[in-house]
Amino acid sequence: MAQASVSNGVLRRLLAADLSGFRDHLLRLDSASRRSRFGMEAPDAFVEAYADRCFGIDDVIYGFVSEGVVRAAGELRGIGHNLPLGIGASAEAAFSVEVEWRRQGIGARLMSRIVRAARNRRAEVLYMSCLANNEPMLRLARKFSAQLRYEPQAALGEIAPRAPTPATYLGEAADDFTGFATAMMDLQRRGAELR
Ligand SMILES: CC(C)(COP(=O)(O)OP(=O)(O)OC[C@H]1O[C@@H](n2cnc3c(N)ncnc32)[C@H](O)[C@@H]1OP(=O)(O)O)[C@@H](O)C(=O)NCCC(=O)NCCS
Repeated sequence: MAQASVSNGVLRRLLAADLSGFRDHLLRLDSASRRSRFGMEAPDAFVEAYADRCFGIDDVIYGFVSEGVVRAAGELRGIGHNLPLGIGASAEAAFSVEVEWRRQGIGARLMSRIVRAARNRRAEVLYMSCLANNEPMLRLARKFSAQLRYEPQAALGEIAPRAPTPATYLGEAADDFTGFATAMMDLQRRGAELR
């Protein structure tokens, strides 16, 4: 399969208006990728229902978008009894990169945004789970110094985000500002294509 050029896209926060683009990205994942992403078989109906529940009030989703098409996503949301995501909360992260776009650092760039977002929301712990043989995800987790715990089938990565700083707040705000402008152009493009 030919590799797509990473220079031909941007990383930006996905908005509720990106729901269909996010859902279509998940639907393009083949069955092995879906198993890796969701930890189980994930038929289309499951993926569609899952995508419809995303973009809740405390969900933070970054996407890699090329020519208006979402090709990868990093998701952050609060878990457990501490919802919504905030001071002292536990959070979980999940990642998906379409096959042609892998091994070019997109996963690492998404992880960096997600860890910063967890930090800025003062999450106490950030979890990421994957199948125990998911070497790319395990490498990604190690790269961000996650503590890894192995069970027979699954592995759980745990990161304790550091406290936020003015630089992390400003960095997220600046990225969101430019990302919003790009999102508007993507949405206009999609509107023009539908016309
Ligand atoms: C896990 C995933 C998000 C990584 O995305 P990516 O864009 O390829 O990640 P990167 O290019 O940043 O690479 C991350 C690390 O994985 C390594 N890697 C990537 N593909 C690999 C492979 N097939 N075999 C071994 N290592 C691999 C990279 O070398 C890199 O490690 P390094 O920096 O130590 O060299 C992607 O493989 C994916 O979407 N998989 C399916 C869904 C999934 O498993 N999600 C995780 C559970 S939520």
